[in-house]
Amino acid sequence: MAVNVCVVGTGYVGLIAALGLADFGNSVVGVDVDAKKIESLNKGIPTIYEPGCEEYLRRNLESGRLQFSTDIGASIARADVVFIAVGTPPKEDGSADLQYVEMVARSVAENLDGYTVVVTKSTVPVGTNRWVAERIKAFNPKAKEGENYDVVSNPEFLREGKAVQDFFHPDRIVIGTGSPKAREVMEELYRALYLIQTPFVWCSLETAELIKYAANAFLAVKITFINQMANLAEAVNGDIHQIAKAMGMDGRISPKFLHPGPGYGGSCFPKDTRAIVSTGEQHGVDMSLIKSAVEANDAQKERMVAKLEAMFETAGTPGLADKTVAVLGLAFKAETDDIRETPALNMVGRLLEKGTRVQAHDPKAMDNFSREFDEVLYCASEFDAAKGADALVIMTEWNIYRNIDTDRLRKLMRGRIILDTRNVLDAERVKEAGFLYQGVGRG
Ligand code: UDX
Repeated sequence: MAVNVCVVGTGYVGLIAALGLADFGNSVVGVDVDAKKIESLNKGIPTIYEPGCEEYLRRNLESGRLQFSTDIGASIARADVVFIAVGTPPKEDGSADLQYVEMVARSVAENLDGYTVVVTKSTVPVGTNRWVAERIKAFNPKAKEGENYDVVSNPEFLREGKAVQDFFHPDRIVIGTGSPKAREVMEELYRALYLIQTPFVWCSLETAELIKYAANAFLAVKITFINQMANLAEAVNGDIHQIAKAMGMDGRISPKFLHPGPGYGGSCFPKDTRAIVSTGEQHGVDMSLIKSAVEANDAQKERMVAKLEAMFETAGTPGLADKTVAVLGLAFKAETDDIRETPALNMVGRLLEKGTRVQAHDPKAMDNFSREFDEVLYCASEFDAAKGADALVIMTEWNIYRNIDTDRLRKLMRGRIILDTRNVLDAERVKEAGFLYQGVGRG
């Protein structure tokens, strides 16, 4: 039986959930306050760059199972399930700003019709789901939890760039609820995933909330671990890729998320690690491991700038002032236009501070980046960016940079420095082509 779904918030998580749930056969309305976004989505034009998104969007719009609207009240009233997928941006003190979540709770309270399951998809601090249930009650004292509504925590584990694939083939679905009635509705909603034997973890609201933070913090710590190991490998002339490979052969460790780089970025890891540290502190629990990963990640971003500076010294042309640096890759990882907390922000910011001219290229993220830094020269290709540059820095692992023509670079560039913070180039070949080359953790 198709479930009537309303997804509030058509940002990253909301949009993918809306088109995915529609594809499962449910009837879905995606709601947003941004009328322009809604207009574009109803025309089948995605508002984010995400492989596969457009195809699923169009196909589900055509089938009539998916539509978008700015009318939150009517959309909630017809829904059996309301997903909260609005933003929870960090406030100045680092804690999550829940005003948009509260606005949805209010709309739910005011438009309750029949029994409605309210599902939180946004990553929210531990305790938020209970608070949402209380807010609904406060906005509508007649509403009875368990009778008119229930609140469920269903955290999202999508990776940007692989979000569509992750939605249809998740490692697991986590659902926090104490209500058998809500569980029944959620089982119906995700029936398609049951059929492909996706594991479901049923737990309490607080456990579900914490699972999301624990998973993200663990991965952030894992990346930080390999980054520090890479720095050590550099110092003692070891090769981090062989180290990571051998470590990963141990089934207990797994080879995933052991790729060294300029530090993790994105919309989740930086925000969630800081949030869990602050939650720990509120409860008087020692979170020093995650806290030091946060610090080490900031230091890793700085280390990349120091490395470039050291390379200029080795080349006999010390100092960053009045140099021209080509920065290839601005997104926080490949296959996305997202620049939130991307290591490139730190690199470019520091270079500009030091009086360096920056010529940048990214296949998708230049528009977003130019809103942060308009003094950068944005180039149509990686080769345009390299023109006249004293050094070239790769900040994102886009495939087009992997096989970059080094002969062409040699002709275009003024200097001979290449810093590859993602280890995407063949170090030996680049050195043979006459460049001073450094990756991360490669001796
Ligand atoms: C992450 C989680 O993977 C996802 O489950 C959660 O829902 C949201 O946060 P995402 O931020 O899209 O997803 O990107 P991810 O692929 O996890 O990478 C995060 C950051 O870590 C990127 O900056 C990436 O470059 C970096 N990273 C990842 C490494 O530096 N090394 C690695 O081995 C893996």
